Amino acid sequence: MYINVNKPYLPNKNKYYKYLDKIWDSNYLTNFGPLSQELEHRLCKYLNINNLLFVSNGTLALQIAYKILGLRAGDSVITTPFSFVATTSTLIWEKLNPIFCDINSETFCIDTNKIKNLITPQVRAILPVHVFGNACDVEKLEQIAKENNLKLIYDAAHAFGVKYKNKSIFEYGDISTISFHATKLFHTIEGGGIIFRDKNMYDEAKAIINFGLKNGDVESLGINAKNSEFNAAMGLCVLDDMEFIMQDREEVWEYYYKHLKNYFSFQKLTSNNNFHYFPVLFDNEENMMKKVAILNQNNIFPRRYFYPSLDTLDYCKAKKYCPISFNIASRILCLPIYVGLSRKEQNEVIKILLD
Ligand SMILES: Cc1ncc(COP(=O)(O)O)c(C=O)c1O
Repeated sequence: MYINVNKPYLPNKNKYYKYLDKIWDSNYLTNFGPLSQELEHRLCKYLNINNLLFVSNGTLALQIAYKILGLRAGDSVITTPFSFVATTSTLIWEKLNPIFCDINSETFCIDTNKIKNLITPQVRAILPVHVFGNACDVEKLEQIAKENNLKLIYDAAHAFGVKYKNKSIFEYGDISTISFHATKLFHTIEGGGIIFRDKNMYDEAKAIINFGLKNGDVESLGINAKNSEFNAAMGLCVLDDMEFIMQDREEVWEYYYKHLKNYFSFQKLTSNNNFHYFPVLFDNEENMMKKVAILNQNNIFPRRYFYPSLDTLDYCKAKKYCPISFNIASRILCLPIYVGLSRKEQNEVIKILLD
């Protein structure tokens, strides 16, 4: 038995082969081919959104978003320290300065009450994360961004299928980005999406991800962040199975919750649960690490998501740390959750945690 924190979902192989036949017929392997276009179209329909651009991963999606919104080297961006490293590393890579705002201890999302004090003339944007697919306080963030003339970019890497007030979570902010990495709820092996409020930005970004070319001419400074037809084909297959994927994950999630709810603390949900992660908050780091050691001895590999708190990374050179994020990051553990995880396997995990 070997239980990892996640396991990529693989759709029916014959269905994928049928898409391969189409690729062989069209000889279109990449560069906005028919399958990539079909995927963008179907994702927009499925998520009830407009202007989704299919790109090569969720990391470049963030970097393109900064460019499109006109952020320049030396600008500052208010962001959360409780996230995957790419939220912060993309800023530093683009020579933007992350200004860390602490998180709410219950929702694990950026604490909107602490943002205003961090705003300086150098701050040009806010970059919150819908952590584990839990919606940020989007209304308050919209208000703060408007009042202070700041751009609002959501790192929505985990938020596939999340709705807030009956609207896709991707419709909030100027831009949302998502990851379609193999371990995500919906995936294209490697991949990502950028969702724009403004169609003109979508058009501009489509040129930027293709070396800045428009009708064959170099119109702007660009990069290569396109994705391939093979990746799109995987996305089209996985998208067909979303109902099954969601139902299976929900059962896994509910089973853990039923057995663990009286013994651990959990993230307070602000939106519908997309059952992407199962984060468990321990009393302290020491107790958590003891359990991790026993789980590992039994070939069970949960992950310390998100650890460390990003403000503590050396390359961030943060002057002030965020104590709540530091505290949560030290004692949070994401348990294995994926399609096909059996109740027997879950029982093994639960037994060790409750022993
Ligand atoms: C919050 C967050 N942002 C960005 C990314 C980067 O996405 P990708 O792995 O597709 O580059 C991830 C990846 O897991 C993530 O969790």
